[in-house]
Amino acid sequence: MNHLPVRKAVIPAAGLGTRFLPATKAMPKEMLPIVDTPTVQYIVEEAVKSGIEEILVITNSNKHCMENHFDKNYELEARLTESGKMQEVEMINDIAKMANIYYVRQKEPKGLGHAILCAKSFIGNEPFAILLGDDIVVNKKGDPALKQLIGAFEQKRASIVGVQTVPDSDVHKYGIVSPSLSTMPQGRLTKLCNMVEKPKTEDAPSNLAVLGRYVLTPAIFDYLESQTTGAGGEIQLTDAIKRLMDSQAVYAYDFEGVRYDAGDKFGFIKATIDFALDRPELQEALAAYIKKLAEEL
Ligand code: G1P
Repeated sequence: MNHLPVRKAVIPAAGLGTRFLPATKAMPKEMLPIVDTPTVQYIVEEAVKSGIEEILVITNSNKHCMENHFDKNYELEARLTESGKMQEVEMINDIAKMANIYYVRQKEPKGLGHAILCAKSFIGNEPFAILLGDDIVVNKKGDPALKQLIGAFEQKRASIVGVQTVPDSDVHKYGIVSPSLSTMPQGRLTKLCNMVEKPKTEDAPSNLAVLGRYVLTPAIFDYLESQTTGAGGEIQLTDAIKRLMDSQAVYAYDFEGVRYDAGDKFGFIKATIDFALDRPELQEALAAYIKKLAEEL
């Protein structure tokens, strides 16, 4: 394992999307678009830009349209070609060529740790990345969040969790890390001595929250296999990473970039506005509209 590069990533996408009902009654939440692009495509693009070659998506029975999205669509291609829409043809073909994407079903909704365990045979004995679909990270000036974590992994050859500081009022929503007091942080990298899933504000060991990006060694699977249920009655990835610290070092990397919580309605709306303000064809009209709204508020 020690010399292997990070080539594979896992994207867990088996959640029910309850927070976005009724939109998610018949459509996976990963296909909800920010402007015109499904959230899962932003995640796949980040993985590919970070050097990932093979992606395993953990799905459930309601996710066929996600598989279709990353596949060829010959009928649509033929119709667009007939009407001379060649730019659109290129766009839909590019999506199908982005990466080698595989799918496996999580048969029971037993939590994130259980979903990751479904990737065991796909990953084998390689280090691998995890990207959570609810966390969209934009880093306009530098490397994508995952690439930053992979850089940290290459430096330490140890598991890395991506963190950012969150306010006290939000620690209960996340996995919160506890930095080791005996090792000095090195820039954005901090050695950890503990991790706790969704603590109460008063119990949180820090304000550093894991925000949907991980690079882990395959040893995590040994711990996931024996992991008992934790917060929310689910098998938690956080609990298994905490146990991994018994045998291997684990670090937090405070990644650079703006992170949107696309699993939350307000976070989704913020992402939609910011992404639209970044589109040349939309920015002028949207900015004028926002200014007009602000005057009326
Ligand atoms: C999951 C993880 C949590 C992490 C969060 C990031 O929680 O269990 O540790 O901080 O993602 O978004 P979820 O949001 O699925 O409840």
